Amino acid sequence: MPRWNYENINYEEINKENIKNNEFLFTLLAIASFIEITSDVYENNLKRFYEGDKQITNWLEEIWEIEEIQHGKALRKYVESVWSDFDWGEAYKNFRNEYIKYCTIEEFQPSRAREMLARMVVETGTSTFYKAINAYAKDLNEPILATIAHNIHKDEVYHYEVFNKGFLKYNETENLNRKDIIKVIYTRLKEANDEDVATAYKYIQSNNDFEAFHKNLKKLAKNYYPYKMAVKMLMYPLKLNRYIENVTASTIEGALRVFGI
Ligand SMILES: [Fe+2]
Ligand SMILES: [Fe+2]
Repeated sequence: MPRWNYENINYEEINKENIKNNEFLFTLLAIASFIEITSDVYENNLKRFYEGDKQITNWLEEIWEIEEIQHGKALRKYVESVWSDFDWGEAYKNFRNEYIKYCTIEEFQPSRAREMLARMVVETGTSTFYKAINAYAKDLNEPILATIAHNIHKDEVYHYEVFNKGFLKYNETENLNRKDIIKVIYTRLKEANDEDVATAYKYIQSNNDFEAFHKNLKKLAKNYYPYKMAVKMLMYPLKLNRYIENVTASTIEGALRVFGI
């Protein structure tokens, strides 16, 4: 059973007045809802990749996918409650048609331990993103969004932890060293640029002004993104001692900012 149910959230109590003119927030949440709700495609690919590992494939099917899709549904309902003019269903249909072409198993890492690491990078991205949204929503005085973002954030941290266990299991045989690990983290971070976001943007906004949106995203990151948490999560598989960790942390934090995360 998921730890929370979006149907128990009181969407009628949203402080619409505080946010209904916030075009950036609308776009951001609509994009997130599109990507989350398409997790069924990833789940299928991951299940094929880890075929034979019942522990992982069952978890992906029975927990991970259900939680990710709930994130999408919770955000969809939020978007539709506040910005009722937006035809979510139609825009999503068009987005999905294009987006699923990019979600192929060929994009995966070349080994099971490496792919677990890549998943940890993705979950680091999502858990920190929702933490930022939680803080932003509080500043906007919108507690319903803050609650949704908090719930999603918790789920993403849990996913990270499960993928970490998977990494440790597969790395017992693959024995990746720190250099290998850094390489995977780095390449996955590089791929985490705006492809998903830019694709979703196209189907949500007709204004073609992705640059302006991206600028606002950077501003959001500057004010609310939990860089320290992101660095800690990204570096965790390296099992560094405290001294090296402190030296490396600032380098990674710098890299994150370069990637616009
Ligand atoms: Fe999610
Ligand atoms: Fe997740």
